[in-house]
Amino acid sequence: MTAEHDDLQRAARAVLARNDRGTHTAPSGSHYPQQWLWDSAYSAIGLAHIDPARAASEITSLLLGQWANGMIPHMVEHRAATARGVDFGRSLWSSKRARFAPPGVITSGITQPPVLAEATSRVAAKLDQHAADTFLRKTVPQLVRYHEWFYRERDPLGEALVSSVHPWETGMDNTPPWTSLLTRGHQPLLVRAAATAPLRGLIERVRPDTRTVDAAERATLAEGLRSISLLLRLRRAHYDYADLGKLTVPRVQDVAVNAILIRNNAILRQLARSIEHPVPGWLLERMQQAPQSLEQLWDCESSIFLSRDAGTRCLLRPATAAGLLPLYTDELTRGRREVLERLISDQLTFGTRYPVPTVPVRSPYFRERGYWAGPTWINVNWHLIDGLQRSGRATGATTLRDQTLELVRVGGMHEYFSALDGRGLGYCDFSWTAALAIDLINQAASGSHHGAPADAHPTEPS
Ligand code: GLC
Repeated sequence: MTAEHDDLQRAARAVLARNDRGTHTAPSGSHYPQQWLWDSAYSAIGLAHIDPARAASEITSLLLGQWANGMIPHMVEHRAATARGVDFGRSLWSSKRARFAPPGVITSGITQPPVLAEATSRVAAKLDQHAADTFLRKTVPQLVRYHEWFYRERDPLGEALVSSVHPWETGMDNTPPWTSLLTRGHQPLLVRAAATAPLRGLIERVRPDTRTVDAAERATLAEGLRSISLLLRLRRAHYDYADLGKLTVPRVQDVAVNAILIRNNAILRQLARSIEHPVPGWLLERMQQAPQSLEQLWDCESSIFLSRDAGTRCLLRPATAAGLLPLYTDELTRGRREVLERLISDQLTFGTRYPVPTVPVRSPYFRERGYWAGPTWINVNWHLIDGLQRSGRATGATTLRDQTLELVRVGGMHEYFSALDGRGLGYCDFSWTAALAIDLINQAASGSHHGAPADAHPTEPS
């Protein structure tokens, strides 16, 4: 390991230690006290290199929030969370009125990109055999129920493409295609009322997310209020997704969520096989069909994948880095893969000095500091590096890995970064930046990617 990587790893470990809440890691000690789904998956991937048993608890503590219908919520409030956090969860989500919510645990009512099979597999690979077996026997059945929920309730027509009903479910809150979708048509009362100067001023003053971070680096007030008003609609429906068509909410076949689900389907199938846990036949069929269905999201005009409105069947513009994430599935045709790989280094789109910007740099939607509307996020890069490596693109993977570690060195353990000059943006001491940096450093030190650990499990017969 180089001295530079050694220093970086030390700083990253210190961030994870500061954000450690016993059995889970807060995304950022200063702002997010709760446990979040994909944040914890990434924390577990990093912690697996340091303390595999603690990494396992990151996942098992999140699974305490699983709903009776199988959904794993995007946010779980443990009692140890700060009083402010608990109040926020109780009053905003009111999930305990939902019929499937777990008793005695405060959770949100939506989910997030399903990176959990990936994290579980990487943690299991670092545990001794007995501990790995115990861990997998506990988690894998829960994850199978989670993937069943996804395809049962979010893919009611059996298209093998799941729908997201809220931009927060994509984890990329103010990503431009969702913002454009939510800006169309009649605007919610909350948004219209907040457009008036006195109310706007008041809300801007009490917004918690801009207390320590410049407002230019967060979602705009209108974006935030549109999200909250959509959440209130879901809350009124008690987060009951069993009859999705009847809910008057957007249904988006989000390309990032589906790409991540496809890769995690493959890992989950292998994990289930390794402990001989059954996966229902209908689910296996859906999982097998999913890579082909993803092809429907290819946009010939802009030569990238886009998300699609499940109701109108229209692809949603503009293109973003989410459209590159099918590279993480390793299920693409060679042609598609090559087009996407070129975009990563194309200076007119994603090939900035510190790639990969969440929105192409020449796009009119690109905002250098605009949260998910421009900056580089380490988790997006991590998925791309992983996909490139697994599909045999070692040079591309190593280049992006080195660029990503250099970015964290230049910008610090921030939430996200300027894709132009590498400046750290958003909250500092951000757990997934630290955790994924640790994973990338360990890949670099071992001279390769540690591959897809799930591949170490017995493979499925075709
Ligand atoms: C923000 C991000 C989301 C993340 C959460 C906690 O809401 O958009 O992806 O999970 O913060 O870090």
